[in-house]
Amino acid sequence: MNATAKKSKRKIFPARRSKAEAAVPPHLRSEVEKILITEEQLARRVKILAREIGRDFRGRETVVVSLLSGTVMFLADLIRHLNLPLRLDFIGVSSYGVGTESGDLVFTKELRIDVRNRDVLLVDDILDTGKTLSRVLPKIRALKPRRIKTCVLLDKSARRVEKIQADYVGFEIPDLFVVGYGLDYAERYRNLPFVGVLHPHIYKDIRL
Ligand code: IMP
Ligand code: MG
Repeated sequence: MNATAKKSKRKIFPARRSKAEAAVPPHLRSEVEKILITEEQLARRVKILAREIGRDFRGRETVVVSLLSGTVMFLADLIRHLNLPLRLDFIGVSSYGVGTESGDLVFTKELRIDVRNRDVLLVDDILDTGKTLSRVLPKIRALKPRRIKTCVLLDKSARRVEKIQADYVGFEIPDLFVVGYGLDYAERYRNLPFVGVLHPHIYKDIRL
């Protein structure tokens, strides 16, 4: 493992917050149990990640490849702080299941930008079982980039089934189903500005 990977493997748990700061808005209280990571914590951490990535990529032409759709907010915040000459492209990947599992993956959008001999930063919202990144990485490797680094906002390492870890991790989180800041449950909640824990009764009929 190189120095970058070591540095980024730091476990970062959300700090303790006052109740007032972490309050779920009243109209969401029956759906969102609690706030796990506040807007402020996200903003602070994403800036630090961007600085770290910018330093490691040392001004090289970079192709940021982002997985749809969970990365929307994280990606927008990350790249605005990324001081690199970059191109941006997306891979569409979705699972057949509506629920909380990755299931069988289908590619809904392929890469358009040529990544051959270029540096690639692959961005995803959350590394859970690892099945998604394990399917996507070989696809990109086959296009012969100079190197690929992976960056995820959240890492739920307790649920990992594939032997994979990300080079850059925003927050290491416990085994909870989270929504917001781009992450969804059945395509909902992506617009929440914080990362919150979904009430289990919302997905109680789905096998975890
Ligand atoms: P993996 O393939 O199991 O690593 O899961 C990665 C994908 O599953 C993510 O890109 C998300 O779309 C989804 N996912 C996993 N855990 C959560 C969660 O807690 N909330 C929302 N989506 C999740
Ligand atoms: Mg996703």
